[in-house]
Amino acid sequence: MELHHNNRQVCYFFLYLCICGAICETFHYSVLEEKKSGSLVANVLKDLKVDVKELSARRARLVSEGTKQYFQLDPQSGDVLLKDRIDREALCGQKDPCILFSEIVLENPLQVHRIEVEIEDMNDNFPQFSKKEFLFEIPEHMPTNTRFPLEKAKDADRGENAVQNYTLSPNDHFRLDVQSHSDGTKSAQLVLEKQLDREEETRLFLTLLAVDGGSPKRTSTAKIIIDVLDSNDNVPQFDKTVYKVKIMENSQPGSLVAKVEAHDRDLGSNAEITYSFSQVPDDVQRIFKLNKHTGELTVGENIDYEINQNYAIDIKATDGGGLSAYCKVIVEVEDRNDNAPDVTLTSLTSPLPEDSPTDTVVALLRVTDRDSGDNGRTACTTEAYLPFMLKASVNNYYQLVTQQLLDRESISEYNITITATDRGSPRLTSTRIINVQISDVNDNAPVFEKSTYKMQLWENNIPGLLIGLVQAKDPDTEQNAKVTYLLLPGKVNNQPVSSYVSINSETGNLYAIQSLDYEQIKDFQVTVRAVDSGSPPLSSQVMVQVVIVDENDNAPFILYPLQNGTSPSNDLVPRRAEAGYLVTKVVAVDRDSGQNSWLSYELLKATEPGLFSVGAQNGEVKTMRPINKRDTFKQKLIIGVSDNGHPPQSTSATLSILLVDGFSDPYMKIVDIPKEEVVEEEDRTLTMYLVICLAVISFIFLVSVLVFIAIKIQKRRRFIESSALNFPVGPNFPENCGNADAGSLSRAYNYEVCLAGGSLNSEFRFLRPFFPVFSVEPAQSQEVQRISSGSHDLSSHPAESQLVSQVTV
Ligand SMILES: *[C@@H]1O[C@H](CO)[C@@H](O)[C@H](O)[C@H]1NC(C)=O
Repeated sequence: MELHHNNRQVCYFFLYLCICGAICETFHYSVLEEKKSGSLVANVLKDLKVDVKELSARRARLVSEGTKQYFQLDPQSGDVLLKDRIDREALCGQKDPCILFSEIVLENPLQVHRIEVEIEDMNDNFPQFSKKEFLFEIPEHMPTNTRFPLEKAKDADRGENAVQNYTLSPNDHFRLDVQSHSDGTKSAQLVLEKQLDREEETRLFLTLLAVDGGSPKRTSTAKIIIDVLDSNDNVPQFDKTVYKVKIMENSQPGSLVAKVEAHDRDLGSNAEITYSFSQVPDDVQRIFKLNKHTGELTVGENIDYEINQNYAIDIKATDGGGLSAYCKVIVEVEDRNDNAPDVTLTSLTSPLPEDSPTDTVVALLRVTDRDSGDNGRTACTTEAYLPFMLKASVNNYYQLVTQQLLDRESISEYNITITATDRGSPRLTSTRIINVQISDVNDNAPVFEKSTYKMQLWENNIPGLLIGLVQAKDPDTEQNAKVTYLLLPGKVNNQPVSSYVSINSETGNLYAIQSLDYEQIKDFQVTVRAVDSGSPPLSSQVMVQVVIVDENDNAPFILYPLQNGTSPSNDLVPRRAEAGYLVTKVVAVDRDSGQNSWLSYELLKATEPGLFSVGAQNGEVKTMRPINKRDTFKQKLIIGVSDNGHPPQSTSATLSILLVDGFSDPYMKIVDIPKEEVVEEEDRTLTMYLVICLAVISFIFLVSVLVFIAIKIQKRRRFIESSALNFPVGPNFPENCGNADAGSLSRAYNYEVCLAGGSLNSEFRFLRPFFPVFSVEPAQSQEVQRISSGSHDLSSHPAESQLVSQVTV
């Protein structure tokens, strides 16, 4: 502003000069800026065409425009000197040229000369960037030749001293393109020569140098920072393309199978990787689980080697920008011994006949194990003690064969345990029980419970009575064990067995067909056969002995003395006989046997009590005391004989004894009876009383008998009407007689039993002589008996022999 002001003043001054008529000349000088004060700018003497004397005389002086005086004139030399240091840039700024105007005024005549001093530029300023650093953000993979203009550097100096050039620090990616503008300034652009890759260099540091044209040159630098922005230019990369892993089957769910890992060199979401299955079947996806963030492949469901031994799983890794990569995980499943062997029964023969020969195939088995290797290698066994064994056959087949003969009767059923074991660790076993039934073969005959049977039958049985039971067991079963009984034909007493007994073929019960009499038959034997119903049938037989048991159905029978009632025999006893003299012996028999025939004797009545005694066992009549004179000549004894049956049966015998003097010849004594009759006279009255008593008793007895018989007949009629069987009157029984063996007497005696069927006497049985040796005319036709001289009952005692001979005569 001051300058403008000055210029206007200068114009005014020139106008004043023109008016005054003073002509002015202009002198042009130049001086460099930044010179020291006092430095010479120019000498004006020549230009003014004056000498020094005139100069000083004319009082020359330098007048500068404006307030500030930059120059001074030395009047002694005419030199214009710098009064002060001048900074062109401060004085003129961007103005060019920078000129300072002044005037030299001379008096006498007034002369005004213009002086122009141009201030010349000096390179005293550095180029200057507005910032120390410039930041560029450039995406990677920008196309080459992309230009990035740079800010100019400023230089206060002018012209050559201003910025003349830019240079860039050496680098791979950029070059610098410097352009000149019409105003003489220069600018620069960064040109991309090679694509940027963030993954190689995320940040580039460049240095820009601005150079001016001064001398010396002045430079300035600025930093250029280039941040490379990421673009998803990288595909994720797996560590391996194929992962091979092994895993045991039945691994716990959640256990790690493999970890796949992919990397992406990009940044941020472009490097964020998620993992996923690629085209993996659903069932495999259930077995394996993939963590999409970590890439961990874990067990999902149970892994079963037996279903699949290996898996190939494709896994995809995808970054945030959608680029994917693939890898494959090959999982090899390792077998574990988790399957027990399995025993399959292919065929079975059951029931098995017990007569099967050894080596008969009973069953065919197959053992399988789903595991592999040793885990699937199996062995098969069965219990050692069985009559069966296993024979290995091809392809894990086994034959169960018999190794012994079988017997259903000892073991009818087998539970055979088949044990299959594999060789895994730990070993697994499985068992199977095979039930083999043994079927029956008729190999056992019926066996009777006893080797012989002995049965008892009471005589006088009713026909049809159960005698007993035979039983045979057959260890076989069903038909083979169904036993039937039958009687083998045979003879009993010359009659067929079947007329005596019959057998129930089902139960083995033996029944009596007829009523039996012990006195006729004591026992008999029949043979029973037991037959099973097998094919062919087997049988066995047993002997059955039927013993007829005696009943006390016979009263004792007196053999001696003869009890025919007409002439009782007399036994003679000498009066001088001592006590214990054996008078006689009562002989009685009983046709029953055993207890029923054990006879006992007792003295029921005697003429002279206390004189005689009877042996209870042997029937011997003995004197108890010596005979005295008062004892009557004729003694009469009634002796009761009873058997030992239940109830006992008894009979009585009357014995006459004559007491005689001397006993040399008993027959002579008998002749002497008249003598004795004298004695007897004394007893006649007594005898008469006895006879009367006897007659009365006999009469009562007879009446009783008649009444009894009448009652019996009544009962009998009723009984015959109700059961005709009770009293056999068949052809085997002649109307009156039947033959039978003798009873208690030896078999040498035969008696003929005569029955007066239907008559009043039918209850009584009578003995009729059948013995040819003796022939005694019976006093009564009803009963006759004979005793052989060899009879065991009477043979031992001499007195007995006498008695016997007496009887036989
Ligand atoms: C065999 O097994 C069956 C069924 O468990 C059983 O009823 C039978 O009693 C067994 N037999 C033997 C001889 O153990």
